[in-house]
Amino acid sequence: MALNLDARQRAMLAEMHVRVWSPVTAPEASLSSLAPGQAMTMQAAPPVHAPQAVKSAASTPTPSTPNTTSAHAAEPAASPLVLRRPEGLDAMDWTTLQHTVSNCQACSLCHTRQHTVFGAGTPATEGQVPQVDWLIVGEAPGENEDLQGQPFVGQAGQLLDNMLRACGLSRAAQVGPEGGGIYITNVLKCRPPGNRNPKPEEVAQCEPYLQRQVALLKPKIILAMGRFAVQSLLQHSVPGVDKAPLGKLRGQVHSYQGVPVVVTYHPAYLLRNLPEKAKVWADLCLAMALLKSAHEIS
Ligand code: URA
Repeated sequence: MALNLDARQRAMLAEMHVRVWSPVTAPEASLSSLAPGQAMTMQAAPPVHAPQAVKSAASTPTPSTPNTTSAHAAEPAASPLVLRRPEGLDAMDWTTLQHTVSNCQACSLCHTRQHTVFGAGTPATEGQVPQVDWLIVGEAPGENEDLQGQPFVGQAGQLLDNMLRACGLSRAAQVGPEGGGIYITNVLKCRPPGNRNPKPEEVAQCEPYLQRQVALLKPKIILAMGRFAVQSLLQHSVPGVDKAPLGKLRGQVHSYQGVPVVVTYHPAYLLRNLPEKAKVWADLCLAMALLKSAHEIS
């Protein structure tokens, strides 16, 4: 899906020395033709609660047709990857999606979680999709998030709130005439035990939920925080994203479902590397400039 920047926006970004990334090996048109999750070469979509598990083609590659569409597919699979895609996901409304996530049993994280963490942000009327400009995507719930069922409520969350405040934003703020609403979510909706890294198969199982959240929220900007958010959001549009250092992906405008994506460091990383704060500030300034420009032309 193309990133629709007009000549003025492109000139402004050029002025800021921001490169607008466009795929070289995969034409964007081919992305828009992918159904959500299709790049994992799913063949069918079994319902979550009546799973008729279907092995993804990623687990049974044929020597003559290696799967090059997914960053994860190339990894040696210890056990066959079985993708469980909720029936009717692409047509789900916000409430049904929330309900589906809270009952999800697509991977083993459902056995260890206390709560699923769907996301949080600008308040919305019951059953309505929150009206937001920003979608902020982190990695996965940690211990506090798992206990409370809310994203970013621990130390990393406090830092995120401070960063947002520095931009004049707040996760609970109502949308003003100039926009400003925020939604915060994660790649994984369940906590990996012991806060270990998400596994590729967990990311693959959870990915359709994030896809549907983006489709419903229609944010004007996505801030991808950390390696897992970046890889999940850009895996189909940035070749080799799983190997690329985050620093190389920053300072460019990427795209997911036609929404501009700005890459930045995860707040938990920042807590360990405080001097990197200046870079995150620069990333936030880029995101704000893109948003401002989007508002000016709408
Ligand atoms: N880290 C994340 O990536 N997400 C959270 O919700 C909390 C910590």
